[in-house]
Amino acid sequence: MFRIFIKPLLFAFSPETAHNIVARLLLLLSYIPFSRHIIRLFYRYSSPSLEREVIGIKFPNPVGMAAGFDKNGELYNQLSDFGFGFIEIGSVTPVEQPGNSKPRVFRIPQDNALINRMGINNKGVKSVVSKLKQNKPRVIIGGNISKSTASRNEQAPLDYEKSFAQLYDFVDYFVVNVSCPNVKGLTKLQDITSLSEIIDKLTQLRKYFDDYRPILLKVSPDLTDEQLDEIIELILVSGLDGIVATNTTTSRNNLTIEPQQIESIGDGGLSGAPLYSRSLEIIRYISRKTGGQLPIIGVGGIMTPRQAEEMLNAGASLVQIYTGFIYNGPGFVRKILKHLSKKSLC
Ligand SMILES: Cc1cc2nc3c(=O)[nH]c(=O)nc-3n(C[C@H](O)[C@H](O)[C@H](O)COP(=O)(O)O)c2cc1C
Repeated sequence: MFRIFIKPLLFAFSPETAHNIVARLLLLLSYIPFSRHIIRLFYRYSSPSLEREVIGIKFPNPVGMAAGFDKNGELYNQLSDFGFGFIEIGSVTPVEQPGNSKPRVFRIPQDNALINRMGINNKGVKSVVSKLKQNKPRVIIGGNISKSTASRNEQAPLDYEKSFAQLYDFVDYFVVNVSCPNVKGLTKLQDITSLSEIIDKLTQLRKYFDDYRPILLKVSPDLTDEQLDEIIELILVSGLDGIVATNTTTSRNNLTIEPQQIESIGDGGLSGAPLYSRSLEIIRYISRKTGGQLPIIGVGGIMTPRQAEEMLNAGASLVQIYTGFIYNGPGFVRKILKHLSKKSLC
């Protein structure tokens, strides 16, 4: 049904328009009596073998929605009906920002990939908090935070602190995004001096709250082994709770389309199938370096249930999908979960 009817229809629109149509439909559907139950009946899949405890949180299953799909915290409950075990909202910045000019998302169907340069468009942390207050989450929520595009890198720690403090009581865990290639200078925050300042500020601030919220760091697939080593060491000594690997890549490796086509799209982060091998490699590397002790959320190019399994086997405790959901449709989560439960991986 998705492949024959819905996908061609949605793919007739630009990626951003298609996303907005889907978002509106999901919100509309929630006003129709029993629709939620019907969706859950078709798409959810639960099994005790899929449950797992990671970063001190009990997850009903290990498959989450990656950051960027529900930037403003408007769809998490609707998305959870499609079987996700957790939803990462954001990236959220301290104030609303429009992101880059459109068009800023591009499909590459031949390669099951997307290139985006959204630039962390979002309605700001106040709006997200009000949504979380109005609409109590029925699913585990990760709060992905970033600095504002307008803020200089020296102001970044304060930006992260602002969103962290305001979101604290409303999310289950945090992800510090320093790896989005579409915000000028952001990936430079992966430099160890900048990073330790941000992490230090957040872990200090966390002490003022009664409840403990795990903090994870989201890294780029474009880091060198040396950079990764430094980051891993920092995470281990600073009391961070885990790592999300990986964000999108600026590399154009593994694309089969013509170089002119790649060039005509321009800058942006590549996600989907071409990213998979690099994300997997990074996860293996981190797992080996930490003796499997550091919780890893694996993300990047999962397009088949077998790849989700492979990422978990490589050392990820949980996985996330984004581009795979766009290309495979809403039944993809259930397919992965059924596959994993058969493998008794979890
Ligand atoms: C359109 C789009 C927007 C994204 N926005 C964000 C974001 O705001 N923050 C973030 O940390 N990652 C963002 N991502 C990256 C995803 O969370 C994920 O790390 C990446 O797409 C790789 O996973 P995938 O191949 O399954 O899509 C975005 C990805 C896409 C495609």
